[in-house]
Amino acid sequence: MQSKVLLLEEGKDPAHMSRINQPKPLPLRLLQLFMSFLVLCVAFSVLSLYTIRHFGIESAVTTVKSNFLPCLRESNISLGQWIKAPGDLMHSMTDEELFWRASFSPRIKNYPFERVPKIAFMFLTKGPLPLAPLWDRFLSGHQRLFSIYVHSLPSFKANISRASAFHGRQIPSQVAEWGRMSICDAEKRLLANALLDVNNEWFILLSESCIPLYNFSVTYNYLKKSKYSFVGSFDDLGPYGRGRYRDDMAPEVNITEWRKGSQWFEVNRKLAINIVQDTKFYEKFEEFCRPPCYVDEHYFPTMLTIEASHVIANRSITWVDWSRGGAHPATFGRQDITEELLRDVVDGRICSYNDKASSICSLFARKFAPSSLQPLLRLASEVLGY
Ligand SMILES: *[C@@H]1O[C@H](CO)[C@@H](O)[C@H](O)[C@H]1NC(C)=O
Ligand SMILES: *[C@@H]1O[C@H](CO)[C@@H](O)[C@H](O)[C@H]1NC(C)=O
Ligand SMILES: *[C@@H]1O[C@H](CO)[C@@H](O)[C@H](O)[C@H]1NC(C)=O
Ligand SMILES: *[C@@H]1O[C@H](CO)[C@@H](O)[C@H](O)[C@H]1NC(C)=O
Ligand SMILES: *[C@@H]1O[C@H](CO)[C@@H](O)[C@H](O)[C@H]1NC(C)=O
Repeated sequence: MQSKVLLLEEGKDPAHMSRINQPKPLPLRLLQLFMSFLVLCVAFSVLSLYTIRHFGIESAVTTVKSNFLPCLRESNISLGQWIKAPGDLMHSMTDEELFWRASFSPRIKNYPFERVPKIAFMFLTKGPLPLAPLWDRFLSGHQRLFSIYVHSLPSFKANISRASAFHGRQIPSQVAEWGRMSICDAEKRLLANALLDVNNEWFILLSESCIPLYNFSVTYNYLKKSKYSFVGSFDDLGPYGRGRYRDDMAPEVNITEWRKGSQWFEVNRKLAINIVQDTKFYEKFEEFCRPPCYVDEHYFPTMLTIEASHVIANRSITWVDWSRGGAHPATFGRQDITEELLRDVVDGRICSYNDKASSICSLFARKFAPSSLQPLLRLASEVLGY
């Protein structure tokens, strides 16, 4: 029944159709062919004349070539097309495709163009960025020196003003659960999207509750002059460290190489590619590091200790307050934000920087609640220098 109705709808009257499709007499068909050819020739001549009159003979030839002989079009790709950062961060690549593309790296070390290395600030969030106004102030005036990437829940619809550095910086995201491999996937996704911009050199993982502790120039120079990437990594002999190791991880991971560290890392371009291209350790961690083994505390620190221990500082550059005890670090809200607290966070510690003692240890701090925004904006210029 259905197909009959369809046929009638499309062809209307089948008898009529067959009459139209009946072959015409030969001379008529020849004439038709000739007329079409004539029309094409006239159109072609008019187009050529027009182009010659307006743009000269050479471009007329080019027009002819590119319009009528597309296969012979001259390719004229300049370097700019290979090194241009993607303007739109949305794409339809799967993780597999994205990671493959992001793992490209040049074998010639000197860039044949003036490369200005940038910081990639990568925000791993659920959605909103309540402290964005503070970051916008910190970033203001340094557009050429940074890029921003935001991974949020796929259901989240960002509504960010055009004036903000966060506008249009959302990357294709998937659900990520803390303590599960999906959180490392999200981090790899951030790294891979940031790697697509050849000028990104330092990749920093941040959350929506992070704040910068120094002005942009101090931050930039600290990273630029560092011999090491800032990945937290230590050998914890207790139950929450080596206690989470499983013999199944050998021989890829020996218990002596098992490390623990903060999730909030900073890596250079080379290490970012190491992370994105890894499948060897990924499989081991995915299979054998399940809660109460938390992948986000062990995977990257362990892997980088095995592959690149001589270039990581073994400490994070993101400060956090564990002094109150418990499973979660302290969160600072409106009432907590005083000049004293901020000075305390910024000063008062000594750490190793390029194998020498330094009083600048953390460039960022967490965790700051949305309610801390106003007092932070008030104190930032005097205490934090931006
Ligand atoms: C190729 O492009 C460059 C710059 O865009 C231009 O200077 C050059 O003339 C072009 N070459 C050809 C053969 O079209
Ligand atoms: C986006 O934000 C602006 C200003 O904050 C607000 O006026 C507007 O209604 C919002 N749009 C949506 C779709 O939420
Ligand atoms: C950034 O802070 C440093 C140290 O406080 C200061 O010397 C420098 O002038 C500041 N730079 C800018 C651009 O404000
Ligand atoms: C781990 O390394 C130590 C020393 O480096 C070695 O003695 C031990 O056999 C290794 N264990 C495994 C399981 O490979
Ligand atoms: C980090 O720790 C590794 C051992 O896990 C060590 O080889 C390396 O020298 C340390 N890095 C620094 C900067 O001290």
